[in-house]
Amino acid sequence: MGCFLHGCDYNPDQWLDRPEILSQDIEYMKEAGINEVTLGIFSWACYEREEGVYTFDWMDKIMDSMYENGIHVILATPSAGKPPWLAKKYPQVMRVREDRVRLRYGDRENQCNSSEIFREKVTKMDELLVQRYGNHPALIMWHVSNELYGICHCEKCQQNFRLWLQHKYKTIDNLNIQYNGAFWSHIYCDWNELESPSTIGDQSLHALALDYQRFYSELSIDLVNMEKKTIQKYCKDIPITTNMHNLNCGVNYSELAKILDVTCWDSYPKWHCGNNKESEWEQAVSESFHYDFCRSLKKKPFYLMESTPSNTNWSDACKLKRPGMHLLSSMQAVACGSDSVQYFQWRKSRGAFEKFHGAVIGHSGTNDTRVFQDVCEVGSKLKEIKEIQGATTDSKVAIIYDWDNLRALEEQRSLKNNGKDFEKMIFEYYEALLKNYVSVDIISQCDDFSSYQLVVAPALYLFKPDTPKRIRSYIENGGTFVMSAYSGLVNENDLVYESFSPYDLHQVFGVCVEETDALCDDEHNKIIYGGRSYRATYLCDLLRNQSATVLAEFEQDFYRGKSAVTKHIYGSGTAYYVAARMQEDFNYQFLSDVIEEHGIHRLLNSTYVDDVMIKERKKDGKKYLFLMNFSTKQRSVKVNYKEYLLQGYECNIVTLPE
Ligand code: GLA
Repeated sequence: MGCFLHGCDYNPDQWLDRPEILSQDIEYMKEAGINEVTLGIFSWACYEREEGVYTFDWMDKIMDSMYENGIHVILATPSAGKPPWLAKKYPQVMRVREDRVRLRYGDRENQCNSSEIFREKVTKMDELLVQRYGNHPALIMWHVSNELYGICHCEKCQQNFRLWLQHKYKTIDNLNIQYNGAFWSHIYCDWNELESPSTIGDQSLHALALDYQRFYSELSIDLVNMEKKTIQKYCKDIPITTNMHNLNCGVNYSELAKILDVTCWDSYPKWHCGNNKESEWEQAVSESFHYDFCRSLKKKPFYLMESTPSNTNWSDACKLKRPGMHLLSSMQAVACGSDSVQYFQWRKSRGAFEKFHGAVIGHSGTNDTRVFQDVCEVGSKLKEIKEIQGATTDSKVAIIYDWDNLRALEEQRSLKNNGKDFEKMIFEYYEALLKNYVSVDIISQCDDFSSYQLVVAPALYLFKPDTPKRIRSYIENGGTFVMSAYSGLVNENDLVYESFSPYDLHQVFGVCVEETDALCDDEHNKIIYGGRSYRATYLCDLLRNQSATVLAEFEQDFYRGKSAVTKHIYGSGTAYYVAARMQEDFNYQFLSDVIEEHGIHRLLNSTYVDDVMIKERKKDGKKYLFLMNFSTKQRSVKVNYKEYLLQGYECNIVTLPE
């Protein structure tokens, strides 16, 4: 594109009878430095008010006027929102819930992804759109659907699931072995006996639940792929995307990314809502994680597809962004690799669900507002830093966030069933890496480890078939690997290995786990590491130490004296095992020591400065260091001995030679 996109979801369908508003929009967009609009996300009912009766002239005018005014268009396929006639005439397009109740018409993104009639109607609509606008000069990208979400349990989906199972397991006996069907008399004799989990049916067979989630994720991706193929039949050169938004939305984003040209993220942090009113650090870490995840999917810049310029309308308290936060949060996305800042939405709706959701233009319809000025400021900033567009991120550290593993951890019943904190445990390690000022990629267990100096795998409970082999060869060839408690217990079907954990890696780590103890929420064990005492919580692995160096031992309970943190040289690499969920300070200090010992590049030679996040992008022999202060207080950071004073919520970008 050659420049950062500064854009918004534009839903002019709501003002088609108000031409003066539409022309005013263009003037305001130019003033705010908006150079892109995403159109048509929820326009199905406006295109096809009655079945088979299509009206596109209104969109023709919008597309043309965008082009005439130098504004690019990302055009959506409108499959996320359905017109009422569709569900009335074809109720089978609506999703069936887990309790087997079919939804009535309403809301959005709640179709059955197996529904043939839904697929047929979407394909027809997409063909008409792509034939009409595929060569339009304003068009720069296709946006398929919107925020894929959820699972259907209708009979058609069940039939497809059975075919999926047959393809995967080949024989019913093999399925019974993998599901350990002899337990509780769950031996299946016929594929037709299998059904998706239900609140009124099976909730005990974790492997079945895992498979249904995998099946449905593939089905959702298949629907996107169907739309993609329809687009590509008539329009080959325009990139295709869809907006990701929630790691637990029912879709494996690592798989989805494979069929997209570019990845996009929708971001709605709850700024100013935390316990510590002087700092937004916790939100900032969470945002950073999601951006790094989205960027790592394709290892190239992504687009921030949606964000709010002020408040949302769906959290407990929908707070306005405090002065300075809009620029800082927008720059954070850019710092993490986004080539855009885009908003939901341009103009505030007058009615319906999101009438009080923040937008660039409010109900007053004027441009003299604080929010509008904030948006103008971001527009100017993106122009000022345009040379950074396209710059990449070079991470030597990766953390494993694996969709199948997290799904399996959510399903299993084991040691801690009240509040499963496994995802949080990954976030905790990620935060410790961020505070150590290293660039981090977020990868799945199937990704290639070889370009990283350090890979961290918290609670990697489920191993895919070649995971142990790949970890072993990574370490053998010089990699540094940190594995934490509760790793390597089950195969890809949640079938427990006939071995101590971590499966097939005892020689590599020099330890194996004989038992794991669960701690109550108000309990902790203790370890001494580097002369300091730290708390071990949640669960503790009781290790048999075969040949590892002990870095710390448990200090309490009957396993006092057992190894808690170990190090083992294997081949040319090093394997660390941390046998418990550790308190934050430990994660920071331990990873800091690992980073030092193995000479891993830091973005800044400094210990963590409270509330300051550092990110780096590189391009054409230059590196751009983003210094971001997420507190309201002044902070000071030294880059190459030069001191930078950061005011509250300030982002300073320092350009350095690579
Ligand atoms: C999501 C949706 C948008 C809008 C925003 C509001 O991201 O994609 O259509 O509903 O939420 O926060």
